[in-house]
Amino acid sequence: MAIEITVIPGDGIGPEVTSATLEVLNAAGADLTYDEQLGGVSALESVGSPLPDATLDSIRRTRIALKGPLTTPSGSGFRSVNVALRKEFDLYANVRPARTLFGGGRYDDIDLVLIRENTEGLYVGVEHFIGVGDDARAAAESVMIVTRHGTERIVRYAFEYARTHGRKKVTVAHKANILKYTQGLILDVARDVAEDYPDIEFEDRIIDATAMWLVLDPYRFDVLVMENMFGDILSDLMAGLVGGLGFAPAANIGLDTAMFEAVHGSAPDIAGQGVANPTSLLLSACMMLDHVDQGDVAHRIRTAIGTVLRNGDVRTRDMGGTDGTAAYTAAVVRALG
Ligand code: NAI
Ligand code: MG
Repeated sequence: MAIEITVIPGDGIGPEVTSATLEVLNAAGADLTYDEQLGGVSALESVGSPLPDATLDSIRRTRIALKGPLTTPSGSGFRSVNVALRKEFDLYANVRPARTLFGGGRYDDIDLVLIRENTEGLYVGVEHFIGVGDDARAAAESVMIVTRHGTERIVRYAFEYARTHGRKKVTVAHKANILKYTQGLILDVARDVAEDYPDIEFEDRIIDATAMWLVLDPYRFDVLVMENMFGDILSDLMAGLVGGLGFAPAANIGLDTAMFEAVHGSAPDIAGQGVANPTSLLLSACMMLDHVDQGDVAHRIRTAIGTVLRNGDVRTRDMGGTDGTAAYTAAVVRALG
């Protein structure tokens, strides 16, 4: 029986990369049906809420969502719908693979996975201004929340992921030298959890040095695990190692619900022009297919993407080419055979 999933096309380039992704899923024979729902600025404008109840109800029913990027206003305005969705469904593990798909970039044969804690840290949004004299915004504070429970389950997820995917090493990246309580707790818990996995190499590394080593010698890493904001920043850095945000998929995994999305945002600078690279969302959809036991379809799609990228005659702008989303998508569909 076909599996029903919630699809949120989202904002900016979201609708463009979502329709490209659905076109490939259908051509590849994915056994899915789609419940399309609104989210983000487009939802705010059409139904008055960036996260409508109908969208939440749909995900509660299907337990699986494929989501395009959602625009979040900077500074003021509504809080991130992405963060709200991750919290609502307790999607605690954000799995972000960075794998080289075509040569000619800074490095060849990159194959890394970043596991980002998705529900705690600074992104819980516990913030306030502090007034001094007549300046109501003289200072501001954000609180970083780290729990033993939250840390243990994300570090354990990283080790389990390493085990089931035949990986050799887990690196926890932290800043325990400066933030002795929050980051110190992460380091302590990680060391404890690591003892349960003697078959997997474990190391801890300071986050800033990790950033340098990722650029200088990414091959020394395998699976990386870190708190929310560090993971947000380093996953974009790792996308840069494999050709940019156009090649960076992500899975947000909870106990009973999962949401698949690209690492990139709504790219307002290129939205509506038909030039976005849909590969990130397409690879996210492949992670979704793996998740619902349609790994054979995922494999066909990944192989087709690899064929198109290796041939090199159809390339979107971010790959140095001149083709649009539609031409690239058509090439992937043709390569499915
Ligand atoms: P962005 O990821 O949207 O764009 C950064 C740069 O990468 C831009 O130059 C863009 O053109 C390029 N880019 C991104 N995806 C691309 C693709 N598929 N093909 C070709 N080029 C691509 O980041 P930005 O501009 O900082 O954020 C824009 C909006 O997206 C903001 O409102 C932000 O809050 C939101 N955002 C949403 C995310 C989500 O829904 N998960 C994740 C990140 C940002
Ligand atoms: Mg990000």
